[in-house]
Amino acid sequence: MNFNLTEEQKAVQYAAREFAVKQCLPDVIERDEKQSFPHQQIMQLADLGFMGMMVPTEYGGSDMDAVSYSLAITEIAKIDASVAVCMSVNNSLVCYGLRNFGNEVQKKKYLFPLAQGKKNNKLYIGAFLLSEPEAGSDATSQKTTAVDMGDHYLINGTKNWITNGNSASVYLVIAQTHPEKKTKGINVFIVEKETPGVTVGPKENKLGIRSSDTHSISFTNVKVPKENRIGDDGFGFTFAMKTLAGGRIGIASQALGIAMGAFERARAYAQERKTFGQEISKHQIIQFKLADMFTKIEISRLLCMKAATEKDQKLNYDVSSSMAKVFASETAMWVANEAIQIHGGYGYVKEFHVERMLRDAKITEIYEGTSEIQRIIISRDILK
Ligand code: CAA
Repeated sequence: MNFNLTEEQKAVQYAAREFAVKQCLPDVIERDEKQSFPHQQIMQLADLGFMGMMVPTEYGGSDMDAVSYSLAITEIAKIDASVAVCMSVNNSLVCYGLRNFGNEVQKKKYLFPLAQGKKNNKLYIGAFLLSEPEAGSDATSQKTTAVDMGDHYLINGTKNWITNGNSASVYLVIAQTHPEKKTKGINVFIVEKETPGVTVGPKENKLGIRSSDTHSISFTNVKVPKENRIGDDGFGFTFAMKTLAGGRIGIASQALGIAMGAFERARAYAQERKTFGQEISKHQIIQFKLADMFTKIEISRLLCMKAATEKDQKLNYDVSSSMAKVFASETAMWVANEAIQIHGGYGYVKEFHVERMLRDAKITEIYEGTSEIQRIIISRDILK
């Protein structure tokens, strides 16, 4: 597999880096503290064509490959993991799902503005509603129901920890239609946020990715037209699994970006800070820390590139995306922790960014499938 970047991929990487440094860095600490949604940044990402990166231009996207997408998420997450996840959910869960499994009418009506990230010059993004108060890893045991009423479905239930929960205009809602059929009795529906009976709960007060917008969403007798079901009856679980496999490339890339951001700050600090008469980077203990951090980051990067390349080559990437996610997220946690250690007391205060990176890293071990779920997927494959 050749991981040399093309000129186009390098240009995307450069544009994402410029955007992150110029548009995200100036207020990243303040937004984290106030938990304010990066509205302006997401609108700018829409202008860059980064909200529907892998969607064909005829459906409003930029028609780029998964490698470019991974590079862009990584560059943005180096500076701001919250902005990266808002972008990732819209791209790899919502737009990917509609692009691959939606019908023409659904694509024209919903995918086009979602891939643009805008409609009538206003923010227009989506959210993916699978997790519930009692169903996260065990995705089949969800309680939200969608009852077939002839020309429409009636949805009742609650979804939890929804990224873009309040800022999204469109939800992809996964619900039970025939609970007795288990994974074959699940469907996925396009639900507009403004539909009567949809209630957005309060914003979650989170440890990390605080600038992203996480809410629970409740559905009380929500009437959804039949034409808003995606795919054949019973397709919802397969839809969720296929979509999440791609989503995990986005989260792995986000984790890689956090690790790279923390590493770059630790390296720069180590070359400035002096103890015992010399820069701390001259002490072997710090050199070895940096060497180990860099090596794990490089492994994470290669795993992200492998998963994205397999996706671009239309190969099966279920296992490689799980491997990239579990390794990159655990690396992000470890690297951010080491970066704080290298900074000493400064690492523990907000101005130096690395404490936020540690807080941001934690969620990458949890959402879009915990590390334990990734290990289930990998081990099932190697033992089959
Ligand atoms: N592609 C296609 N089909 C798949 C598939 C895939 N990647 N994975 C599973 N399936 C199919 C299986 O082949 C099987 O089909 P058959 O019944 O025809 O054989 C069916 O789906 C059921 O599969 P399993 O028996 O493997 O199902 P399971 O109940 O054992 O669960 C699991 C498997 C991997 C643990 C799955 O439940 C899972 O991935 N759980 C984690 C869910 C998750 O990631 N949640 C995150 C929430 S979303 C989020 O975080 C969004 C956000 O806002 C950031």
